[in-house]
Amino acid sequence: MGKILVIHGPNLNMLGMREPEVYGRMTLTEINESLMDAAKKAGVELRTFQSNHEGELVDAIQEALGTYDAIIINPGAYTHTSVALRDAIAAVAIPTVEVHLSNIYKREEFRHHSYVSEVAAGQICGFGVDSYFLGLRAALKLIGDME
Ligand code: DQA
Repeated sequence: MGKILVIHGPNLNMLGMREPEVYGRMTLTEINESLMDAAKKAGVELRTFQSNHEGELVDAIQEALGTYDAIIINPGAYTHTSVALRDAIAAVAIPTVEVHLSNIYKREEFRHHSYVSEVAAGQICGFGVDSYFLGLRAALKLIGDME
C-alpha cells in the first residue's frame, strides 16, 4: 500500500480563522480529515503533520525516508525563505508535490519565488483547499497508484 505524508508549514494551524478571504474557512483538522478520507478511498495510507518550526519540518522530511512514497507539502512562508527545506527534499529524493491554497503569483512580489519548487515534482496553487486534493491526485500518479 502506498504511503503519503502531508506536511503543513507555519501558521497553517490557524486555517479557518486566519485571513479567511485569502485562505478560506476550513480548519486544518477538517482539511486533514477530508484528505484521510480521500486517501482511504484511493487505497493509500496518509499521515499529516504540521509545525511552525523550520527544523521540525526538516526532521519530518528526513524521517519520511524509507517510510513514505510521496510527500505533499505546503511550506507556508518558508516556501519563500528556506534553503533548509529545499535541501531536505533534495536529500531524501522522495517525490514531492508543493501545494498552496492561494495563488502566490497573484500576491506580493516576495511570494513569487519558491525554493521548494526547484526540487518538487510540481506545484499546485490558487485553488484553495482543492489545491491539497489536486496535490493528492498528483502524488497518487507519482507513486503509480492511479492511472
Ligand atoms: C501559502 C502561501 C504563502 O505565501 C503563505 O506564507 C502561507 C500560505 C498558501 O497556502 O497559500 O502561509 O503557502
